[in-house]
Amino acid sequence: MSVSQDLLTVDDISVTYSQAIVALHGVSLRLAPGKILAVLGANGAGKTTTLKAVANLIGAERGRVTAGRIIFDGRDVVASQPSELVRNGLVSVLEGRHVFKTLTVEENLITGSIGRGSTRAETASDLERIYGIFPKLKAKKSELAGLTSGGEQQMVAIGRALMARPRLLVLDEPSVGLAPLVVHEIFASLKHLNQTTGLSILLAEQNASIGLKFADEAAVLENGRSVLTGLAADLRKRTDIKAFYLGGGLEKSSDQAAGRPLVAAQ
Ligand SMILES: Nc1ncnc2c1ncn2[C@@H]1O[C@H](COP(=O)(O)OP(=O)(O)OP(=O)(O)O)[C@@H](O)[C@H]1O
Ligand SMILES: [Mg+2]
Repeated sequence: MSVSQDLLTVDDISVTYSQAIVALHGVSLRLAPGKILAVLGANGAGKTTTLKAVANLIGAERGRVTAGRIIFDGRDVVASQPSELVRNGLVSVLEGRHVFKTLTVEENLITGSIGRGSTRAETASDLERIYGIFPKLKAKKSELAGLTSGGEQQMVAIGRALMARPRLLVLDEPSVGLAPLVVHEIFASLKHLNQTTGLSILLAEQNASIGLKFADEAAVLENGRSVLTGLAADLRKRTDIKAFYLGGGLEKSSDQAAGRPLVAAQ
């Protein structure tokens, strides 16, 4: 597949924070339209940095892409304003379920359509669409978001992103701190949306077992570098991936502890 057919291409990027801390040095990803790509890796591997670079949000943290390039739908991400990327369909939900706690669920969702210049009727139909995806939010639409459960707050955060009508939804560790059943519910809704509307999803997950179950393709990061990419179905079968990254994935082998890469970088 040529680069031009990808919705997103991350080509061998390096990212440095504060001109001193090299967080990424050689990360490459490709996401075709309509696919779900999981970025996997342990704490500090560079998942969040990769996602923030893709949304051009690292500048706010004194981060900079120092090498390589990121192309979203033919557009140079580094040269684009984050707001311009959102308008063009690249919408992210960052780590930590950010909701406006003192606004209602519905008011939170409406903030997701600000900037698109939607009419009242469009906003109303977008809200109904989100309530169709996450019926629990409809039941709680008048409650303060800060008083809803962790899972519901994650649905609000994702729902708000979906109000912006993304073509590429970028999700950073949506499963963190949530019960398995709730995670399953959220991912099943997103998978359904992916299959029925062709929404593409870029997902960072430390929980590789969830990421590989849900995604079409996966990329494993280690110490700021891509060490392995492939079809999620193939990676699920790889015993070395399972040993290193499935079932919690926080325990390091002696190879990893010694700084030897899991798989030689290409
Ligand atoms: N704002 C920042 N300033 C300086 N260094 C940073 C900053 N954010 C991240 N880093 C460093 O960059 C590296 C990659 O961090 P990143 O947050 O991207 O990893 P991660 O894979 O998302 O980890 P986690 O699973 O803990 O969320 C780490 O060494 C981290 O300490
Ligand atoms: Mg992270």
